[in-house]
Parts: sequence; structure tokens; C-alpha cells
Amino acid sequence: MDSLYKRLGGAPAIKAAVDAFYGKVLADDRIRRFFDGVDMERQRAKQRGFLTMVTGGPNGYTGKAMREGHRHLVAQGLNDSHVDAVIENLGETLRELGVSEADIAEVAALANSVRDDVLDRESVAV
Ligand code: HEM
Repeated sequence: MDSLYKRLGGAPAIKAAVDAFYGKVLADDRIRRFFDGVDMERQRAKQRGFLTMVTGGPNGYTGKAMREGHRHLVAQGLNDSHVDAVIENLGETLRELGVSEADIAEVAALANSVRDDVLDRESVAV
């Protein structure tokens, strides 16, 4: 079976999704403050690289590990509700782009799998 990366539509689809996703994130009052002062062009490039890697595309990710990359945000109050909001925005974005519910669920699971790292805590049993 094709990788999730291929099913989503490869590089052009990842680019379209990341652009639309950050449009939503920056319009979302629950989470936009974390992006104040962030270079969004650089952020979009890193997120494209990350999503490409975790969905089984060519691995060119050059960004930080999730724990290091978000530690300063945890210090600003980043918590589960913010991770939920990000996953919700990502799901809505993919739905608008016509991605199947099964593939949306896979992307959400991938995002969920880094939740404890993003929140800089030990993994909690589920
Ligand atoms: C849930 C899964 C998440 C994934 C997969 C993810 C992915 C990433 C990646 C790949 C980077 C680039 C790291 C680097 O700087 O090298 C990053 C940075 C960042 N993320 Fe996330 N992230 C997640 C959750 C969140 C959440 C919940 C928020 C806030 C609501 C957030 C806000 C940010 C911000 C503001 C940066 C840029 C930090 C800076 O440059 O100062 N992320 N994220």
C-alpha cells in the first residue's frame, strides 16, 4: 500500500495543507499567541519537512526535536488543550482538502504520538 505521504498527494499536497493549516492556527484565538514573533515562512518549511518525514515521505527534516522545539512554549503555558486545538485545525484543514477520514485519523494519531514530547513530560499511560 502507498505511504500516507503518497495517499495525501506528496509534496504539493503537504505544502497546500501546511499553508492552510497555519492560516487556521493564526486565526484561532485559543493558540495564536504562541506564534507571536515566529517567522512563519521558516515555520511552514519546518512543518512541511516534519509532516513529510512522519507520513513516510523523503526524510529531509532539519528542525529541532519536538521536546526542545516547544519547551519555551510550555513555559508560556502550553498544555493539552492547545495540542487538541492544533490537531483539530489540522483535521479540519485536511477535510477541506478532501482527505479521507481514515487518513485524517492517521495524521491525528501521528500528531498525538508526539504530544508528551511537545508538552515536555514523561509519557502518560492511556
Ligand atoms: C501536536 C503536534 C505538534 C507538532 C507535530 C509540531 C511540530 C512543530 C515543528 C516541526 C516545529 C519546528 C521546530 C523547530 O523550531 O526546529 C514546531 C515549532 C513550533 N510549534 Fe509546534 N508542533 C506541535 C504542536 C504545537 C502546539 C500545540 C503549538 C501551540 C499551540 C505549537 C507551536 C509551535 C511554535 C510557536 C513553534 C515555533 C517556535 C519558535 O520558532 O520559536 N506546536 N512545531
